[in-house]
Amino acid sequence: MFPLHRGRRLRQNESIRSLVRETSLSPADFMFPMFIVEGENQEIEISSMPGIFRRSIDLTVKEVKELFDLGIRAVNIYVKVSDDLKDNTGKEAWNPNGLMQNAIRAIKNAVPEMIVMPDVALDPYSMYGHDGIIKNGDVENDTTVEALVKMAISHAEAGADFVAPSDMMDGRILRLREGLDAAGFINVGIMSYSAKYASAFYGPFRDALDSAPKETGEVVPKDKKTYQMDYANRIEAIKEAVWDAEEGADMVMVKPGTAYLDIVREVKDNVNVPVAVYHVSGEYAMIKAAAEKGWLDHDKIMMEQLMCIKRAGASLISTYFAKEAAVLLNKK
Ligand code: PBG
Repeated sequence: MFPLHRGRRLRQNESIRSLVRETSLSPADFMFPMFIVEGENQEIEISSMPGIFRRSIDLTVKEVKELFDLGIRAVNIYVKVSDDLKDNTGKEAWNPNGLMQNAIRAIKNAVPEMIVMPDVALDPYSMYGHDGIIKNGDVENDTTVEALVKMAISHAEAGADFVAPSDMMDGRILRLREGLDAAGFINVGIMSYSAKYASAFYGPFRDALDSAPKETGEVVPKDKKTYQMDYANRIEAIKEAVWDAEEGADMVMVKPGTAYLDIVREVKDNVNVPVAVYHVSGEYAMIKAAAEKGWLDHDKIMMEQLMCIKRAGASLISTYFAKEAAVLLNKK
């Protein structure tokens, strides 16, 4: 009998294909990253991320309502603070009336069911553009972790549902869990950026927050390679994710997304907490740019990438496409 197998039988038409499809996407799979600025009625498009804006809190709240109506249930929050609030302690990060804390309160007030996950890392507050406190020419791990604990507690006090440490310091998940519990926030979760690579795909994000490591003339690392991971490695990604889950992370994240799907699958197979994937700014920018030139079909590439991230093992996808993809999914 030739051929012995007829795989095409299950691909004959869309109805059959839909019966055997192994992966599905829905708006509730997405988290939407949002950039916040001071002021009122501010909406500034990020040039390297067409369609993505830095917004003041009032307009952010409006957008969050729309996202919720589309079925999106989580937002990741990042702030751009003015240079005079930046120093080497990061102390603005735990100002109870800081931009982040005010944004969290305003969003939770307006849309209580939206899950709010503020970013926990010092880079928006660092005069050097680093994710922690600089000492002796590098980011000092343990003092940075103590600063992050203060930052996370201030986010919890403002109403955050989860905190999302993206700093890659060692031991921070354990100290964050202890700190949140001691402050009474036993139900505030931790989504850890566990396997975060030192990646050039973050370029447009650093434009958005003006948070790239800065040339100050002082001896500080010119990149983030002493804490973010080497993209040549996979074993350490699994170690980091396992450690974070052991230390109390409720979810772990792999970042970036599409070039790292082997890591997503291995992390998925090695931890027993949900795995999130960050489809980062550079991935968004590449699709937008190619579509603008007419070289790729924007919507098809967007859906293919999101579906493939899910297929690789993601329970959740943080993506700048969340809104556009949700609109498309809701049309079906
Ligand atoms: C900062 C942070 C970065 C991103 C999320 N949190 C940038 C960096 O580490 O330099 C990147 C996200 C993106 O590119 O979309 N701690």
